[in-house]
Amino acid sequence: MNFEGDELKPKVFITKGPEETVALGERLAWELRPGACLALVGELGAGKTTLIKGLARGLGIPEEEVLSPSFVLVREYRRGRLPLFHVDAYRLTKPEELGEIGLEEYLLSDGITVIEWADRVPQAILPSCLKVKLEILSENERRISIF
Ligand SMILES: Nc1ncnc2c1ncn2[C@@H]1O[C@H](COP(=O)(O)OP(=O)(O)OP(=O)(O)O)[C@@H](O)[C@H]1O
Ligand SMILES: [Mg+2]
Repeated sequence: MNFEGDELKPKVFITKGPEETVALGERLAWELRPGACLALVGELGAGKTTLIKGLARGLGIPEEEVLSPSFVLVREYRRGRLPLFHVDAYRLTKPEELGEIGLEEYLLSDGITVIEWADRVPQAILPSCLKVKLEILSENERRISIF
């Protein structure tokens, strides 16, 4: 995913600790319409899952439920005011696997779809997603840009 050439001006946030990233996710949840999609990009430990914990909180999903999908490509959380579909493309080995998990169905549904490691997903299937770039500035600081 190439953010450099993006013409849209991003909204940029600096968070100073995981709780602030959770709080940002919670706020973001209230801005999202049913059917929205977020494509998250950022290195290991950048805070992608932490942000999604906040989204879950904003959607009324018990936060302790939200784990990195890791060994499954997708986890579904249906106990909030909207369903949350949490996809982790880190271990994606071929794009066909996205078909197997039903990514396109998630994207067409009224739930919120969030994809970690979205740069590993063919961009052609993510045109409707907001792009979220997470960068590590220091041990506890992250720059989170929403395009
Ligand atoms: N400002 C911050 N925002 C988010 N996480 C932070 C921040 N400062 C420190 N951290 C720490 O960074 C780590 C972020 O981990 P997290 O699992 O959210 O990252 P990730 O991007 O999902 O990584 P992975 O690619 O391995 O799934 C946590 O240990 C968290 O406590
Ligand atoms: Mg993660």
